[in-house]
Amino acid sequence: MNTKLDPWSSSDITDYSKLFEEFGISPFDEILPEIPSPNMYMRRKVIFGHRDYGQIVEAMRTGAPFSVMDGFMPSGKVHLGHKMVMDQIIWHQQMGASAFVGIADREAFSVRGFSWQKCREIGVDEYILSLIALGFKPDGLIYFQSGCESVKDLAFELGVKVNFSELSAIYGFSRETNLSHMISVATQAADILQPQLEEFGGPKPVVVPVGPDQDPHLRLTRGLAGKMNMFRIEEREDTKTGRRYLSVRGKAAQKEALQELKKRIPGNVKLYEAHLDVLEVSINQYLDENNKKNYKKICSSSNPQEITTKIVEEVVGEVAAEFGGYAFIPPASTYHRFMSGLQGGKMSSSAPDSYIALTDDPKEGAKKVKRAKTGGCVTLEEQKKLGGKPDECSVFELMLFHLLGDDKELLEIRQECISGTRMCGSCKQLAAEKMYEFLKDHQEKRELARERLDEYKIIYKK
Ligand code: TRP
Ligand code: SF4
Repeated sequence: MNTKLDPWSSSDITDYSKLFEEFGISPFDEILPEIPSPNMYMRRKVIFGHRDYGQIVEAMRTGAPFSVMDGFMPSGKVHLGHKMVMDQIIWHQQMGASAFVGIADREAFSVRGFSWQKCREIGVDEYILSLIALGFKPDGLIYFQSGCESVKDLAFELGVKVNFSELSAIYGFSRETNLSHMISVATQAADILQPQLEEFGGPKPVVVPVGPDQDPHLRLTRGLAGKMNMFRIEEREDTKTGRRYLSVRGKAAQKEALQELKKRIPGNVKLYEAHLDVLEVSINQYLDENNKKNYKKICSSSNPQEITTKIVEEVVGEVAAEFGGYAFIPPASTYHRFMSGLQGGKMSSSAPDSYIALTDDPKEGAKKVKRAKTGGCVTLEEQKKLGGKPDECSVFELMLFHLLGDDKELLEIRQECISGTRMCGSCKQLAAEKMYEFLKDHQEKRELARERLDEYKIIYKK
């Protein structure tokens, strides 16, 4: 089967394991034990996959700088699916990440045909207010793509490294695809790489928490990160001695930059015409000469080989920046499962009963929960005998994704359901009450957020 991922048509992903094989997304399980205090979505396996999340875990552990980045297309109502992404942004922010949130008005303009005015209204009234109400801290940056010069400039630069064949291979773009849609794709890649620009502190690990439908953007951006870089660092092996070393390759006409690299990396370093071989780094000398911002990161490992790599990466980043080049680290990502629609099937913005908006009247929200499809049986007798199916129950899903913070309570409910001692009425009652409380509280916080908007760094379209 060919699992197609398309960011612009809600693809129905039925078998997540395919994503591992076909697209090289790694299972989240394998990295979960290393995460200091995993959030609810991680613990409950709502987040099922990742790319390169190890670099983020390490930054969280060592206190090295890292970022979380995400974007929202201002296309309609902000709902529980967006809450899931916002919660993850905020969690990373609490774990020490500098946070970047882009409102993708270029995407909404080109794909949905929305006016700038409409993008701004939806961007603020729906997304930004909820993001702040959920706990986004004012030191993060929020921007509308079309108001952000650095993103627009970077998008244009990235465009040099993207051609039409690649876009049609990744996104299925055709001869009829309009140019602005393509530009919006480059803009999204720029969103993701922006945190690594010099003005934001230079190269660093960046994580983008998304649903699997957004993975094409990550594949494109990770490829672009490498193509944009001034140097490539490769691990080589000496065929005679079997010793491993690092080779730093520059693009044409970067002689001075290579010389500068040689000057700054103490140890056994050989300079050639178009590359540099780093056979050994004098770690102590480097640390002495550079009592460094990244000292902690560099020394987080006791393995000399790893320390060497980190030093080379650091120097390469500095020199690239000084010579007007880039040293992007390919962005990391995490992937979460989608919630199903409250009536079963998919959530759809054209069917308001299938989802709960964060701006739904709390009473209406509670009613939607009560009308939702469960995994229970047709009759009570049957359910007592056979038990229910929590894994096919949208009420259970609401509790799992959003409403119950306590893992133990959730597991008990699951157990009671399966064994037939719990009936759907009591779950619906509980979930409806919790939903009412959540929406009421969230909406109060949204109103407070409206008053506090000017405490935040927000770049609007001029
Ligand atoms: N394409 C995303 C959406 O449809 C929005 C988006 C824009 C985004 N820029 C991003 C997502 C950067 C992740 C990272 O909602
Ligand atoms: Fe869902 Fe609860 Fe009914 Fe089980 S008892 S199917 S968890 S609503």
